Amino acid sequence: MKTVLEPFRIKAIEPFRITTAEERRTLLEQAHHNLFLLRAEDVMIDLLTDSGTGAMSAQQWAAIMTGDESYAGCRSFYELEAVVRELTGYRHVFPVHQGRAAERILFGCLVQKGQAVPNNAHFDTTRANVEYLGAAAVDFVAPQARDLAQPNLWKGDLDVLRLEAWLLRQPKGSVPIGLLTITNNRVGGQPVSMANLRAVSALYRRHGIPFFLDAARFAENAWWIHRLDPDWQDVPLPAVARAMFDLADGCMISAKKDGLVNIGGLLCCNDAHIAQKVRDLLILTEGFPTYGGLAGRDLAALAQGLREVLDPDYLHYREASAHYLASHLQALGVPVVQPNGLHAVYVDARAMLPHLPPEQLPGQALACALYLQGGIRTVEIGTLMFGHPDPATGREVLADHDLVRLCLPRRVYTQSHIDWVVEAFAELVQQRTRIPGLRIVEAAPILRAFTAKLAPVAVPAPVAG
Ligand code: F0G
Repeated sequence: MKTVLEPFRIKAIEPFRITTAEERRTLLEQAHHNLFLLRAEDVMIDLLTDSGTGAMSAQQWAAIMTGDESYAGCRSFYELEAVVRELTGYRHVFPVHQGRAAERILFGCLVQKGQAVPNNAHFDTTRANVEYLGAAAVDFVAPQARDLAQPNLWKGDLDVLRLEAWLLRQPKGSVPIGLLTITNNRVGGQPVSMANLRAVSALYRRHGIPFFLDAARFAENAWWIHRLDPDWQDVPLPAVARAMFDLADGCMISAKKDGLVNIGGLLCCNDAHIAQKVRDLLILTEGFPTYGGLAGRDLAALAQGLREVLDPDYLHYREASAHYLASHLQALGVPVVQPNGLHAVYVDARAMLPHLPPEQLPGQALACALYLQGGIRTVEIGTLMFGHPDPATGREVLADHDLVRLCLPRRVYTQSHIDWVVEAFAELVQQRTRIPGLRIVEAAPILRAFTAKLAPVAVPAPVAG
């Protein structure tokens, strides 16, 4: 069937203001062509991120009312701890206010200057938290992920052969932790196979390196394994998820994704020594370990979100929505990263706008054009986010790709909203050669994409003749 059947009814609605193209032109200029600097009320369809932007269920709102706000030992913590232990099997469960708090605390406990942290691909905050400590964040993207247009399976995998060779060259004790990000957000939201999870786990274990999952989208990764790996298609989703967690020593979770909450995160581990260090730093910087920077009601909503997220009807709807968007864009000739992820569809802006050299930030240029066209906010994942000026020459070091990520907030938009996005793309495809490039006018030295100011590159006037 062609229709995406959203497996929920809508009980509360959130109106958005309809803006005109003229208004959006002014708003974009005021935001210095950086969509992070727009006010959300000036956006109609917000596909900036799937993080903290989902809609909670009636059961989650009910849980909010029953959250226990006691400072120490609140009931909501013990409920959450029981749900997380059942899901992951990890002994020690710490709530934190969001994913990057888990990163800061875990790395703060384990990582030292001069060391290196391997991963299939670090997302931006994860990389920044490693680098902030003076360590190197090293990515091992799988070879099958290099060609964006090829619908290869398991593009999220870590390149185990390259990691193995690299580990042999590292001085003893210089790799304090090994990571694997499921799904691989940096690489098109692609899943990691169970075979790769096993191989990575075995390799880290052989080298005595604690293995942590960056498991923000664990349910979506479990869904792909269940859907695509014949060995797992008859296995219930909680058992697939548990098998992934069993292979690691712990995890960091931004619960703003598959926790189905607007704020929250988790840091879990088995090792009592690591847990002790985490607890101490948690108390210092986040809060008492039974609330970790969250309100009791947040813990309660998260426990309920984790009970809901592995529902096959929900995950099937996630797949159908993402596939609907990706296939309609492809039908228009828009180069979409293949295969599409669940949390987002990524467009290859360098391929879509070949008239723009990568220095003119085709990803950001396309994201701005999409806002002007349809009031749609997306995010560039390319040179603005991951490039930087070469310290020696000042010339821009380019990212490997310039992508635009169209994130799908969970349970928020319907098929009609997605049709609006497709129609905006249909217009842009017609006018693509007129989309101007951008240049950076002002940028912070770290995580510059969030605050940079940009301006259009003057388009040379057409030569008369
Ligand atoms: N790890 C991954 C894989 C992520 O995608 C993110 C956040 C984090 C960690 C950090 O979590 O935001 O709760 O502190 N990704 C968001 C995104 C921001 O838009 O993809 P956080």
